[in-house]
Amino acid sequence: MRTIVYCFSGTGNTRRVCEGLARELRNAGNTVTIFPITADCPPPPPDGYDNILIGYPVHAFNAPAPVLKFLKHLPPAYKPLPVWLVRTSGEPLRLNDAAGISPKRILKKKGYLVYGELHYCMPYNIIFRHADGMATRMKNAYERNCPADASDILDGRGEVRKVGPVRRFASFVLRIEHTAAPFLGKRFKAGENCIGCGKCAEVCPQSNIVMEGGKPKFGKNCSICMGCAFSCPKDAIKTSLLNGWRVNGAYAFEAPPVKDEELGRYCRKAYLRYFHKMEQ
Ligand SMILES: Cc1cc2nc3c(=O)[nH]c(=O)nc-3n(C[C@H](O)[C@H](O)[C@H](O)COP(=O)(O)O)c2cc1C
Repeated sequence: MRTIVYCFSGTGNTRRVCEGLARELRNAGNTVTIFPITADCPPPPPDGYDNILIGYPVHAFNAPAPVLKFLKHLPPAYKPLPVWLVRTSGEPLRLNDAAGISPKRILKKKGYLVYGELHYCMPYNIIFRHADGMATRMKNAYERNCPADASDILDGRGEVRKVGPVRRFASFVLRIEHTAAPFLGKRFKAGENCIGCGKCAEVCPQSNIVMEGGKPKFGKNCSICMGCAFSCPKDAIKTSLLNGWRVNGAYAFEAPPVKDEELGRYCRKAYLRYFHKMEQ
């Protein structure tokens, strides 16, 4: 079986999940090719492939704008190709399922068949921060589920999530993020400690950053994926309105995973539901 993976990722979570699934599929003797979804080098159409994975993070309970743009430019399916959406998010809220609404609608119109939606809750890398024990439990849950999810893909199994009217409405309202992102991103700045290494420009999937006079200049095409701030070796990028929330730094993934009774009150029910599903 030949699988093509299209992946949009800012801070690396979605890329890691797509790579994990690809590894499992390859171990089972299949061919897998991963293409990043980027503005300046659009990935090729899925001609000749047997199935498709589309990986993206949840941004404000929606798929990021560049992902929708990519899907709109995807040619109609040359045969009814099965697709799995692979999402990552910072919280396991059911509202995040709304991030599948637009991708499913676009794909259906083009003759693709969405067989399943995989959702992994991953540690926030840049906005908010989880405790190390929480991050470790999330990472373990993802690693534990990758093989089973890859085997479902190979067997053509999957779950397509239903989204009720309230969550549809909330996600529709929060789609404002797509309009706001370029304005916020235009105001990103490199601070005094910027060393002009250009890493931010290199990782930006939107090619929105150019180096001018040894400093990054931010254009009008930002999707606030936060790849620039996350990859900066000097933590020098000020992310305008989002700067107050910004955290940076690696998790100690070898920390003892939090136990159920240690989970805080924040989204407690959602985390319990998520971990119990992923750890059974
Ligand atoms: C601008 C922005 C909006 C986000 N919105 C949500 C959200 O609505 N719900 C959620 O659970 N996580 C949200 N997150 C967290 C990301 O979905 C999560 O960290 C994801 O794993 C990032 O994937 P990446 O590392 O591949 O970019 C948001 C992150 C960013 C940067």
